[in-house]
Amino acid sequence: MTTLSRRAWLHRSALAAAALPLSRWYQPGQESMVSQTEDETDFIRLNFNENSYGPSDAARTAILASLSEANRYPWAIHQKLITQIAERENVSPDNVMITAGSSEILGLVGLAYGIEGGEVLGCHPTFDFTMRYAEGLGCTWSRTPLTEDYHYNLAALAAAAGPKTRLTFVCNPNNPTGIETSYTELHAFCLDQSNRHPIFIDEAYIEFSSKGRRNSMVDLAVRKPDVVVSRTFSKIHGLAGLRVGYGLAHPATIALLKNYHTGRGMTIANTSAAAASACLNDPSFEDFCLEKMIQGREMVCQAFDGWGVEYMPSAASFVFFKNDKFNMLPIDALKKEKILVRDYDYFPGWTRVSIGTVDQMKSFIAAAGKYIG
Ligand SMILES: Cc1ncc(COP(=O)(O)O)c(C=O)c1O
Repeated sequence: MTTLSRRAWLHRSALAAAALPLSRWYQPGQESMVSQTEDETDFIRLNFNENSYGPSDAARTAILASLSEANRYPWAIHQKLITQIAERENVSPDNVMITAGSSEILGLVGLAYGIEGGEVLGCHPTFDFTMRYAEGLGCTWSRTPLTEDYHYNLAALAAAAGPKTRLTFVCNPNNPTGIETSYTELHAFCLDQSNRHPIFIDEAYIEFSSKGRRNSMVDLAVRKPDVVVSRTFSKIHGLAGLRVGYGLAHPATIALLKNYHTGRGMTIANTSAAAASACLNDPSFEDFCLEKMIQGREMVCQAFDGWGVEYMPSAASFVFFKNDKFNMLPIDALKKEKILVRDYDYFPGWTRVSIGTVDQMKSFIAAAGKYIG
């Protein structure tokens, strides 16, 4: 197909799709994962919390080497990756489940605990994939507002729990706010609430938090069947396109979730698993990304301070800022500057900028500065 005819085809398909009734999975106000532009590669992409430094050289080498095994099923590399994750987290391989991105385990949890109806609890706004999945199965998502200072509202979640509650979802640090919940507070909450119903903690950004993985609830997850943790290789490890994530839980809970895992759990290609395995063998890249991205985060916060732009204290790889000091909506202004950022119809007045490379953040600051005042 020529470029032109392919474009025309895509256009026609988009029109046809638009004419279809909304899918049962779609809810108005749902976070759209659709690209904002036709070809994003011309832009500095600070809209999806991807890691602009990735993939590492070690991951690239492993991907190429894994091609010669592309004719084989990936069981062996899966086992290797599970063992490596278990060693790194100081848990047993029985406590680990690998999935196609953490999105897959977010969906599996929504399915396993939402399939019988009832309600799921989660603050709003948050990364809502699990709740949306459960809603699609007939569950109700009881949305609890964040606290006045935008923290995840554990007290309100505890108060909202009742006989119909099947699951509570916690995102730590939360997306899109970037705010973290302290280890002590969340640990106490999990201990208390998991006696009533399961708690799921999405730790996609835990490496960027104040104490890194020491803020994780993994110690509880492996001991208590009703606490589940998810992680991803998409953020700190820079493998978003390869789709590797994992869950950490009690063996009984891992077994439960595996019942719902399609394709006998073989949803990660050998190339992806090989890249993830190489990332764990090469902690220097993770350290580098952490240092540079925290530097980028601080640069952005300093610029906001200088301009008097309000922002939420981020413990993640993005910053959520208020756009009232801008003379044009930042998402539109920055697009003119070839920079993509993100905003949400359910959180008007705020914009999220992902932390890219230090150079990209310099460009962001230079571009954003033109629209202040
Ligand atoms: C909080 C949170 N959890 C999970 C995900 C899903 O990431 P992935 O499926 O790439 O692991 C994201 C992606 O942006 C996220 O922000």
